[in-house]
Amino acid sequence: MARLTLRNVKKRFKETEVLHGIDLEIRDREFVVFVGPSGCGKSTLLRLIAGLDPITEGSFHLNERMMNDVAPSKRGIAMVFQSYALYPHMDVYENMAFGVRLMGLPKEEIESRISEAARMLKMEELLKRKPRELSGGQRQRVAIGRALVRKPEVFLLDEPLSNLDAALRSEVRLEIAKLHREIGGTMIYVTHDQIEAMTLADKIVVMNNGRVEQVGSPRQLFEKPANSFVGTFIGSPKMTLVDVSRSGNRLGIADGGSVPLDELPDKTPHLKLGVRPDALTVKREAEDGFTASVVYTEYLGDDSYVYARLADGTLVAIRTHPNDIFEPDEAVRINLNGSPVHFFDAESGQRLEPSAVAAH
Ligand SMILES: Nc1ncnc2c1ncn2[C@@H]1O[C@H](COP(=O)(O)OP(=O)(O)O)[C@@H](O)[C@H]1O
Ligand SMILES: [Mg+2]
Repeated sequence: MARLTLRNVKKRFKETEVLHGIDLEIRDREFVVFVGPSGCGKSTLLRLIAGLDPITEGSFHLNERMMNDVAPSKRGIAMVFQSYALYPHMDVYENMAFGVRLMGLPKEEIESRISEAARMLKMEELLKRKPRELSGGQRQRVAIGRALVRKPEVFLLDEPLSNLDAALRSEVRLEIAKLHREIGGTMIYVTHDQIEAMTLADKIVVMNNGRVEQVGSPRQLFEKPANSFVGTFIGSPKMTLVDVSRSGNRLGIADGGSVPLDELPDKTPHLKLGVRPDALTVKREAEDGFTASVVYTEYLGDDSYVYARLADGTLVAIRTHPNDIFEPDEAVRINLNGSPVHFFDAESGQRLEPSAVAAH
């Protein structure tokens, strides 16, 4: 059983505050992913949970127990580092045995844990090799194995796939998901890659500048982003934000056309419209819609994406049928296709909920 509760957790390095008050609840056996741009504080938060750095302010409880001052080795938490941090002069077996020997476990127990971890991670053949005799993927497995043999209640993984090539990355990603199901512990996984977050997580914590922007399931974040940061961070290609003004039931760009909507927030005349590539259509001839000029197209086989510049300079991505060919500099019209769109406050970026607009 491992439930984590963080309350108003702050971290300062000398005068610089890098975490500004994190509140977070992580349930037993949950697979939680911290995602956010580089430098937003993901590793720092993980290190506070592991006990590798002290919490400046606020509290961290594991189940009912306050952990702020508990030594890392006494927390029942194991961390896998981005750099693997293996001992180069020890073979794989010794690398895995080192930490558990310090825990004072009997020899037989250590042996049985290592052989079980080696089986789970399919590395029985590698136990006598030194790290330099292993590929990147195999080293990553040893680093995970070393955490596994400690039988922690909580696993922390810091960007575990970032040193692997693309093909191996999706393979190890599947293995990590399987491992979580098999061992059933609570897992916190850090990445800057929203696709990893979307595919692995029960719950995603989106971070930005030392703050939590939103916590939710992959679907909640995609369908109801709490603000424009989450809207543009989750989803690929990205959601486009368009600065628009409301007039009746239409949203328009100055000298750049407008689109009609059935539902709009009633708050302000100015707002940000958030549109994903598959909520838009692009046509050469249309009476209505935003005017735009094609910049380039990306052909991906099943889909194509057209990137076009709106009258105000915003670059917008539109998903199209791969047989629809557009040339750079072509004048086009962009319309909404009826799929959900998002509205954000022009100043704060907070999500605005729309309601039905009277017919005009
Ligand atoms: N030991 C440290 N001393 C001073 N600043 C640090 C230290 N560790 C991290 N930082 C700063 O804290 C911020 C968050 O870093 P980090 O947690 O590594 O981000 P992420 O893992 O999301 O890329 C960065 O601005 C970084 O420069
Ligand atoms: Mg990091």
